[in-house]
Amino acid sequence: MIFHLSDKIRKDRWLVLPVFAEGETLRRAGGDVPDRVLAYAREEGFSGKPGALWTVRPSDGRPALRVLLVGLGKREEADAQVLRRAAATVARKAAEARWERIQMVPPAGALPGAAPPALQALTEGLLLGAYRHDGFKSEKAPGTPLREVAFIVSDPAAPVGRRALETGRIFAEAVNFSRDLINRPPSDKAPMVLAGLARKLAGRRVSVRVYGGKALSRLGANALLGVGRGSAHPPALVHLVYRPTGKPTGSVTFVGKGVTFDSGGLSLKPADGMMTMKYDMAGAATVFALFKALPDLAPRLEVHGVAAIAENMPGPDAYKPGDVLTAMNGKTIEILNTDAEGRVILADALSFAQRLKTDAVIDVATLTGAAAVALGKAYAALMTNRPALEQALRDAGAEAGEKLWPLPLEKSYLEHIQSQVADWKNIGNPGEAGTIIGGLFLQQFAGDGPWAHIDMAAVGWNGTGTPLSPPGATGALVRTFLTFLLRAKKGIL
Ligand code: BES
Ligand code: MN
Ligand code: ZN
Repeated sequence: MIFHLSDKIRKDRWLVLPVFAEGETLRRAGGDVPDRVLAYAREEGFSGKPGALWTVRPSDGRPALRVLLVGLGKREEADAQVLRRAAATVARKAAEARWERIQMVPPAGALPGAAPPALQALTEGLLLGAYRHDGFKSEKAPGTPLREVAFIVSDPAAPVGRRALETGRIFAEAVNFSRDLINRPPSDKAPMVLAGLARKLAGRRVSVRVYGGKALSRLGANALLGVGRGSAHPPALVHLVYRPTGKPTGSVTFVGKGVTFDSGGLSLKPADGMMTMKYDMAGAATVFALFKALPDLAPRLEVHGVAAIAENMPGPDAYKPGDVLTAMNGKTIEILNTDAEGRVILADALSFAQRLKTDAVIDVATLTGAAAVALGKAYAALMTNRPALEQALRDAGAEAGEKLWPLPLEKSYLEHIQSQVADWKNIGNPGEAGTIIGGLFLQQFAGDGPWAHIDMAAVGWNGTGTPLSPPGATGALVRTFLTFLLRAKKGIL
């Protein structure tokens, strides 16, 4: 999809105009919509509610401009997220109607709240809404034919406008990259295969190193190796680095959980519980997606990515309840449930990250089903040892339209993971603060420096789909982290 700016409306393509709803009346949000058209649309049942669409058909036979009205709801509530959703709805409408080129007027004025430019939000919405994952249908469904979007603005040459389009495109393409990885069938992304896909991100300012087999033993990554033992496909650890031109203003490491399929291992999940477990590598996919975007965004920070990748299977040599594994930092873990595997592989990944000595470490993982019990599916769970990091991540989330909610790293609960035989055990008390226990366990391997843990189990997958995402992988948190990196100030990291 090509995006550009223009100050001329063309007669030969659909024009999308935003409309606010003010009680019972419609108000133009941008562009010259004649009042009689708005009154007529209202009469015909167009509410102007967020995402509502209405086509103005030329009725008198004269070649007239074809107009699509898109509702944004109340002006004071029409924030960036409303714009993204409205744009996503327009992208679907365009796909359905087989439109190849459209033009769109952005709403006039600044958006409420901490928000990216309207043009960025609209670009993100169009690309996220147009995303499809149906590559395995033998009868190819026609993809979206939408090839060109012109935003109608008064000053098409203004650099701010161009930058907004560019940022929106980079952000959305990174999200869709993570969605592709997460939606990929589990047998098509065995750990070394997934690591190979990450390796392809190497280029311009990104370097990638993959540790497997012997290299993992040399590192002492015995927790990751232990989890991988039940699978025919050996585990891997991927380390990516983005280096800016010039001296970096700071540095940060993102750590991702990459379980390419979580059967539970010998503590086998019931059939229903593993139906979606190809998305258990969503944390790693999120981290990889950042490195797709970073060279284009070119922030002045040094950014590291560390992904622990394994398949959790109950094969003949599988790790077992009762086993004790020694993580890379020398701490020992008593395994009591092989289905609490994420924290075990992340023990090594966080130990590895700690050695990089960056200003902050942020891990992201589909760690606990309990995250959805605590917060439902609208929030990612955030745990951190630094209030400033909590604020910066939540601010970035607000700007990206993704919600994070803090949970406490309650020290007294450490008792729940005290082991008789090892330093820690990998589960706490059943049904008691499962998400916090996961965070507390990880903290033992993250060190005392600035660190945040984000449990994305609830937000990484959506079985029914949302306006911005078809059913399946959501690509959650990619835009939040990219926003965080663009906004990162000295002292936060
Ligand atoms: N990958 C799962 C967590 C998960 C569950 C993610 C549902 C997304 C949806 C994780 O490895 C797991 O199995 N966690 C256990 C932990 C328990 C054994 C302490 C869980 O949540 O039940
Ligand atoms: Mn599990
Ligand atoms: Zn898992």
